[in-house]
Amino acid sequence: MSTPAESLQSVLTPSDQLAVTSDGDLTIEGAVAADLIARFGSPLFVFSEATLRANYRRARDAFAAVWPGPVNVMFAIKCNPNMAVRAVLHDEGAGGDCFGIPEIEATFAGGADPDKIALNGGNKTAEELERAIELGITINMDAAEEIDDVVAAARKVGKSVRVNIRLKVVPPEFEHFVSDAYLIDGDFRPTLQRWKWGVTQETAIAMVERLKGEPDLDWTGWHTHYGRMSARAEDYRAFQGECARMIGAVATATGVAPRVIDMGGGWARERDPESRSADAKGPPIEKQAQAVVGALRHHLEGAGLDTSKIALWAEPGRYIAGNAAVMLTSIGTIKSDAGYVWFNVEASENNLPAICKEGSANHVTVASGMHRKADAQADIVGPICIPSVLAEGLMVPADVVTGEPVAILDAGFYAEAEASLINSVPLPATVLVADGEAELIKRAQTWQEVFATQIIPDRLRRQDLGDNLWRG
Ligand SMILES: Cc1ncc(COP(=O)(O)O)c(C=O)c1O
Repeated sequence: MSTPAESLQSVLTPSDQLAVTSDGDLTIEGAVAADLIARFGSPLFVFSEATLRANYRRARDAFAAVWPGPVNVMFAIKCNPNMAVRAVLHDEGAGGDCFGIPEIEATFAGGADPDKIALNGGNKTAEELERAIELGITINMDAAEEIDDVVAAARKVGKSVRVNIRLKVVPPEFEHFVSDAYLIDGDFRPTLQRWKWGVTQETAIAMVERLKGEPDLDWTGWHTHYGRMSARAEDYRAFQGECARMIGAVATATGVAPRVIDMGGGWARERDPESRSADAKGPPIEKQAQAVVGALRHHLEGAGLDTSKIALWAEPGRYIAGNAAVMLTSIGTIKSDAGYVWFNVEASENNLPAICKEGSANHVTVASGMHRKADAQADIVGPICIPSVLAEGLMVPADVVTGEPVAILDAGFYAEAEASLINSVPLPATVLVADGEAELIKRAQTWQEVFATQIIPDRLRRQDLGDNLWRG
């Protein structure tokens, strides 16, 4: 029978900043979990700055070790939209991927190097395109039809713009595809073909030919995005290999060599709750990098392209932020009935939707008294009106009491980005810990803010209720 400290130890990955004191308290980069809850409340997202920095560096080094040209690792801010997180990554030298005005502005809020930033998305508005051009960032175009819009925006702003073209990559190997994360089992190619993103090789050739005659648009290369579809290195290799085959074919057909290949995101972490396991069994980033770079070089160099002159871009979101955040919460009512024990906590499906909706298996642990034997079982459940089971049958010490802290690992995997307001529960605060010191980077919402955009039409207002929030 193991202790929570031993269970935690068995799932740690190199960049985790999680430790257990001799008293059994969980620490996150030196800050005691229970103290953080006492100071900032529960539930609480806690980021480790050292983990963010280490994840960025490891991804950068993994690609730089095998790619002969320059490497740009861009943080996909959609994964975690905290501006302070983005600022840490800019401080490290990371680029960024953004969609839409809010992500553009949040990417630049803590500093950004425009040469390392790309705007993605289909159906980009004139406002987005003009803002991107003003800031000098690359636009990854998703359709031939977008060229006219980018030309119009460049003329309006009076500035030229670098553009890439997003490719629709459908690897022949994906005829037989099994995902550990999604319900994809069988021929994945028709799905990839149907998804709205990217253009075919034929369209890509026509776009490059057209761009030769557009002086305001500086075509630099290609974009694609595999996503966290599976964690097998061979699937990354198949996807990026097919992408490189298309790139080589377009270069041969048009006579123009790319200067940039942006591979998108989807790089898996070793401890990867989306694989439906909390064990640390995923492929190391170095293995993913070797697999894709091997395939890229094979096809590109085979087509006569000089890879040392091509910059390789990657857009990791979950790889950088995934394990950098922990959600802390505390135990309220402990209920025993019907042969079960439930630890009611303040965190819920609102804050960690992937656990409940997508079957993500996050490591959950009591965060105090962690050297006690875990000799009992409890379900960890949130307070809202849907089951909100954060952990089922978790092994816990039998003498856990109300008020003890609980930690849920890997809360950086899109959790804040996908949070919901079911039951109108305000969004929690987020803190950033650096070397034991915690700073608030997002305060908790108030319940009034949850309703702040709502309006009761005058004809529905009750005159007899006196002043209340809605009379403003
Ligand atoms: C274009 C693009 N780039 C990067 C990402 C980040 O992906 P991940 O968090 O899996 O690395 C996404 C996620 O959807 C994306 O759509």
